[in-house]
Amino acid sequence: MKRLKRETSSALLAVPAGAALATAALALLRRHKTSIKFERFGAAALETLLNAIDANDPLTGTHVRRVARYALVLADAMGADAHTCHTVERVALFHDIGKIHEALFDVIHDHRKLDSRERREIRTHPARGAKVLEPLASFYPDLPKGVIAHHERWDGSGYPRGLKKKAIPLSARVVAIADTFDAITHSRRYRAGKSFEVGMAAIGEGRGTQFDPELVDLFLAPPVVDRIHAEMRGATAVERAPKLRRRTRHGEDMGAPDVSFRWRDTSPAQGALDRVPRKK
Ligand SMILES: [Fe+2]
Repeated sequence: MKRLKRETSSALLAVPAGAALATAALALLRRHKTSIKFERFGAAALETLLNAIDANDPLTGTHVRRVARYALVLADAMGADAHTCHTVERVALFHDIGKIHEALFDVIHDHRKLDSRERREIRTHPARGAKVLEPLASFYPDLPKGVIAHHERWDGSGYPRGLKKKAIPLSARVVAIADTFDAITHSRRYRAGKSFEVGMAAIGEGRGTQFDPELVDLFLAPPVVDRIHAEMRGATAVERAPKLRRRTRHGEDMGAPDVSFRWRDTSPAQGALDRVPRKK
């Protein structure tokens, strides 16, 4: 009888303990689901912004995706952690978002070489871009900081603030190299793109003046050179794929998106986020 009483009372005690455990597990699960939902929402918001860039200027849309490819290769070669790689990717994808501003529309869509007044106007795009992205600063604080600094130069002669050396955010230093490489090797509205070798040589020439010398050394190291070349061929192949080919109203080939924010939890996707190095 005594034994029965003891067993009954311990069973009664076990019920609330089990219930508390179940409640805690449920709360944990809910928090996990909320955090995944939040991440997916963030990715969707950024992809929407990317679509807005495409809609306004498809050539900028394909340019920023190629820049993201090259910037991620460089970030990976640096041994950057996943957070840094994500920041670099976001800054690469949105570095030129300031160009979709109405004030710059005609200049951006013009087929002539820019005159000095137009070049001055274009120089406002990093600050305009940072302003567009400001509401995202509480979620991605490094994004507007990187975007506003992507035309700063290592020697302090860049714009808009004339930042020097490591005062320039790392993401902006990485993107500056990738951006310049793509600007040289890919055709613009008013001039044809140059060869891979010419692009690489230009990056070497900017070592210590335009670009962070350590990053240039990394970019020009043989394994990275090969990867950049492969990314360049990959981007070109995607852009030339006949069924994906699209044209702007001026008849220019705008290529096809090759980098996407599609969140990798949902599918074995091919987005740039999937190429972020795994934790070692
Ligand atoms: Fe730019």
